[in-house]
Amino acid sequence: MTSFLLLSGSPSRPSRTAALLDDAAQHLDLGGHTATRIDVLDLPAAALLRADTTHPAIQNALAAVDLADALVIGTPVYKASFSGVLKTFLDLLPQKALAGKAVLPLATGGTIAHLLSIDYALRPVLQSLSPRHVAPGRFVLDTHLVKEGPGRGISDPTARRAVHQAVEQFVAESSTTQSSLTEPALSA
Ligand SMILES: Cc1cc2nc3c(=O)[nH]c(=O)nc-3n(C[C@H](O)[C@H](O)[C@H](O)COP(=O)(O)O)c2cc1C
Repeated sequence: MTSFLLLSGSPSRPSRTAALLDDAAQHLDLGGHTATRIDVLDLPAAALLRADTTHPAIQNALAAVDLADALVIGTPVYKASFSGVLKTFLDLLPQKALAGKAVLPLATGGTIAHLLSIDYALRPVLQSLSPRHVAPGRFVLDTHLVKEGPGRGISDPTARRAVHQAVEQFVAESSTTQSSLTEPALSA
């Protein structure tokens, strides 16, 4: 069984990014997988800003990353990049924190012009943490998301389908990797 961790880097509450991650998590549940969730917003701000990795809440969050086989990382686009809130947490991760893990980046933003921020801003930072694989990311316009109330999640059918497909592909890739890591290779 692959263990998934969903990490939200939004400073907002309610949050469209959180709604997107919850939609992805529900899709994971439908596939029989379990996923835990961390909102960086819930972590102690002073400990994040001071890079205090001795704080118990920070240690728990770092342990959750360590235990996960695969991470779905969500961020709003802020100033054409990923959020500073997410960066405060990524900065605390050890250099090889993502070794052997797969990562699916998801972003929400107000303009399609910043679609590529996943690839030019977030992906290099994730790659620096030595993941086994960073999957192609998905960007969802904020107008295609409902952040609270009835219908919370991805409201646009095309966007919902694209995210669900990305999640399904990510699950398949992550599961394959897990079995190839845990099962002995077949000899010819
Ligand atoms: C301070 C600020 C800066 C933003 N900068 C951008 C930006 O550069 N590009 C973009 O596409 N959207 C930008 N947005 C829009 C947000 O990315 C978008 O509304 C997102 O869905 C918000 O997610 P959240 O509800 O999780 O905070 C910005 C929003 C705020 C509040």
